[in-house]
Amino acid sequence: MISVKDLHVYYGLIEAVKGIDFKVDEGKIVSLIGSNGAGKTSTLEAVLNSVKRSGEIIFSGYDIVNHKTHSLVQRGLALVPEGRRVFINLTVEDNLRMGAFNNDENYARLRDAMYKLFPRIKEKRNQMAGTLSGGEQQMLAISRALMSEPKLLMLDEPSLGLAPKIVGEVFETIVKLKEEGITILLVEQNAFAALKISDYAYVLENGKIAMEGIASQMIGDDEIRKKYLGG
Ligand SMILES: Nc1ncnc2c1ncn2[C@@H]1O[C@H](COP(=O)(O)OP(=O)(O)OP(=O)(O)O)[C@@H](O)[C@H]1O
Ligand SMILES: [Mg+2]
Repeated sequence: MISVKDLHVYYGLIEAVKGIDFKVDEGKIVSLIGSNGAGKTSTLEAVLNSVKRSGEIIFSGYDIVNHKTHSLVQRGLALVPEGRRVFINLTVEDNLRMGAFNNDENYARLRDAMYKLFPRIKEKRNQMAGTLSGGEQQMLAISRALMSEPKLLMLDEPSLGLAPKIVGEVFETIVKLKEEGITILLVEQNAFAALKISDYAYVLENGKIAMEGIASQMIGDDEIRKKYLGG
């Protein structure tokens, strides 16, 4: 689905991502884990061409490195950003409408599908998004991203700041999306929870891939557990 080679991300003189390679096969969940400042968000922004970067990015067989963000969304890439960033002064429904900016003819059908996926969002459809709880905003952010009918959905720390029960719900939703055929690239600091639902994972450290492997094997490896998963 996507293959990235020798990716570098720069903020002025700072090199935040220092030549990483990774890929996400169709139909899989792949996690990018690592601590604060490791370069996870920068990597996702780089895929969407919203930061200064270099490297090779092949998506669905096409070299997309020179494509602008909106055309990448058109091609089937979507990001649920860190901190959710819903439009707090728009209603829930208008947030969904914004997510369908490139897909207007399918708006009503997709909106109804989102309401089915997240009944709580439906209940609040006429409320300002800023009045939703953190968990509800995360569900709205995921729904908004899904309105463009992505092939590859990238999620940046969807569990951040949520109560454990809601974290469980969000992760269950991600698995459901995979079962519906959406390929997932998941960024998480909650490494253990991410690995549990992932097929494959990469550990980022200081802008480099420190290790990678099959997620279930990483969970089962004592040394990796100690070093990256908090014992
Ligand atoms: N706009 C920016 N200007 C300058 N430096 C930046 C900018 N954005 C990120 N960085 C730096 O790039 C590095 C990687 O940041 P990034 O946000 O990608 O990390 P992260 O792994 O997502 O961290 P977190 O888990 O805290 O979200 C950090 O050292 C950060 O300070
Ligand atoms: Mg981040």
